[in-house]
Amino acid sequence: MADDEYELLPSYDDHDSEPGQVRRQVKFSSLRLVRRGIRRHPTVILLSSLTLVLLAAAFLAYDVAYLKARLSLAGSYNAFLTHLWPVGLPNRTDVWENENSKAMHALMSCMSTDDCKENQDSIVLLSSHHFAEAIIGHVSGEDIWATSVLDAVRELGYTPIFTTNNEELARTYRQYPDLVKVVILEAAAAESCFSDTKCIKTTNHPLGIPAWKMFSFHFWAGNGNPLGNAWTLSPENWPVISPDNSRDNFYLGYSIEKTCLQIPITPNEQRPRQAYVLAKETRYFFDKEYAWPTLAFDAAPIDVELIAGISRHNPPPMDTLPKGIADVGKLNKTQFYEHLGRSRVTLVGIGRPVLSPSPYDALCMGVPFINPVLSWDAKRPENRTLWLTQHDGLKYQNPPYVYHVKKGDVNGFWEALRTAVKTPIERYIIPDMTMKAVEERLVKLIEGNWKEKAEALLNKRKIAAAKGKGKIKLFDL
Ligand SMILES: *[C@@H]1O[C@H](CO)[C@@H](O)[C@H](O)[C@H]1NC(C)=O
Ligand SMILES: *[C@@H]1O[C@H](CO)[C@@H](O)[C@H](O)[C@H]1NC(C)=O
Ligand SMILES: *[C@@H]1O[C@H](CO)[C@@H](O)[C@H](O)[C@H]1NC(C)=O
Repeated sequence: MADDEYELLPSYDDHDSEPGQVRRQVKFSSLRLVRRGIRRHPTVILLSSLTLVLLAAAFLAYDVAYLKARLSLAGSYNAFLTHLWPVGLPNRTDVWENENSKAMHALMSCMSTDDCKENQDSIVLLSSHHFAEAIIGHVSGEDIWATSVLDAVRELGYTPIFTTNNEELARTYRQYPDLVKVVILEAAAAESCFSDTKCIKTTNHPLGIPAWKMFSFHFWAGNGNPLGNAWTLSPENWPVISPDNSRDNFYLGYSIEKTCLQIPITPNEQRPRQAYVLAKETRYFFDKEYAWPTLAFDAAPIDVELIAGISRHNPPPMDTLPKGIADVGKLNKTQFYEHLGRSRVTLVGIGRPVLSPSPYDALCMGVPFINPVLSWDAKRPENRTLWLTQHDGLKYQNPPYVYHVKKGDVNGFWEALRTAVKTPIERYIIPDMTMKAVEERLVKLIEGNWKEKAEALLNKRKIAAAKGKGKIKLFDL
C-alpha cells in the first residue's frame, strides 16, 4: 500500500507523527491478537465461524426464495391484469363495463396480495338498467334512486358489478358465485330469472343464482319478487305509507343529500316572491287528477309570481298552461336547482308526476312544498292513513315544511301559499333520507341472513302446496 493512499483518510490532529505509521501499528497489533487467539483455540474458532457462515447462508437462501416467490406472484398478477379487463380506452361508450373492469382489477390485486379493504371482496351485482344509466348521468326517479344505492355501495367499500340483462347476469354470477352477496334487478327480470332454468339455481344448475339472493328494484308499492314483499326493495317507506300491500317491503330508500348540499342556498330575503310549479308537461294540467281545475292563478289574492319549467308541450288541446303561470322553458339540472332555490316561497304540487324526487330537492333547498290530497275518507277526512296524496312519501310531514291541501280547496290553497310565503325554512332532509340512513339499511340488506329466511318461507310454501292451495312457487335454496 503506498503512503499517499493514506492521505484520503481523515487527517490526524497530531501532525508530528506520520499518520501512515500510526494506522499500520494499530492494524498490526490487532492482527497479532487474532493470530494469538487462533493459535490457542483453533478448533473452537473454526467451528463457530463455520456455524455462523452456515446459518447466514441458510437465512439468505430462504429470504431469496421467499422474495422471489412474492415478486413473481405480484409480478405475474400485474402482468396478467394488464391483459384482462382493459380499462380507460378512449371513446368507449359502455361506461358500466369500464367500471366493472376497474373493479375487477382492484379486486384481483387485493386478493392476490391478501390486503382487500373491508367489504371489498363482497360483490353486489347491480342488474337493473337504471344503475348503468345512473353512471352516465340519467336523472329519472329510478336513476336517482340507483345513483344513491350505488354511492352507498361504494361508500361502504363493497365491490359493485353491473350487468344489464338476465343472460349477462347469469353468466357473470357463475364466475364468482361465492363472492356475490346480493343481486339487485328489476321486478320483471327477477320473475323471468326465477322461472328460467338457465338463470336460477336448481339441483341441475348448481351455479345458478339462488332465489334468496335476488332483490327486486321496485319503485312502486306492492310486491315485485317471486319470494314476496321481503325481497322487494322500495325507494319510499312503503311499509309505513302503504301498509295494506307493502307492510313487509324492504325500505332501502335514497338520498338527494350529496347533490343538494353542494348547491348553496339563497337567503330568503334575497329571493323574489316566486313560487315554482312542479310540472314538466302541459298535459298534467288537463289530467283528471289535476288538483286545482277551478283555480285562477292569474287572480292571486297575494303578491306572488308562479313559474314552471315546461320541457314538453303536448299536442292540442293539452298544449297550454293555465293563465298566471309563466313558462321559463326546459331546464337542465343546474338551471332547475337555480330556479328552485330562488323560489322564495314554495313549490306547488299539481297532482302529477307522483313520487318525483323534486319535492325532496325543494325541502333540501329550503323551499316548502304544497302537497295536494287527491282522495280521503269522507267520514274521517283527517286520517292520513286513508289519504292518497301527490307525494305520499311526504304525507306524514307537517308545516312549515309540507302543507297539505285537499283537491279543489281553492281557499285552502291560497292560505297555504300565503303562510308558506311568510314562513321561511332552513334546509330540511327527512332523517330517513340522509346518506347515513341509506347506508345503514344497505348493510342490513347485504349482510342479512336471507337464506335462513327463505328456508322458513319455503317450508311454509311446501305445506301450502301439499294442501293443494293454488299455484305455489317453490324453489331451491
Ligand atoms: C374519438 O371520437 C372522435 C369523434 O368521433 C374522434 O374525432 C377521435 O379521433 C376519437 N378518438 C380516438 C382516440 O379514437
Ligand atoms: C345547463 O345550461 C346552462 C345554460 O345553457 C349551461 O351553462 C350549463 O353548463 C348547463 N349545465 C348542465 C349540467 O348541462
Ligand atoms: C286511520 O285509519 C286506519 C285504517 O282504517 C286505522 O287503522 C287507524 O286507526 C285510523 N287512525 C285514527 C287516528 O283514527
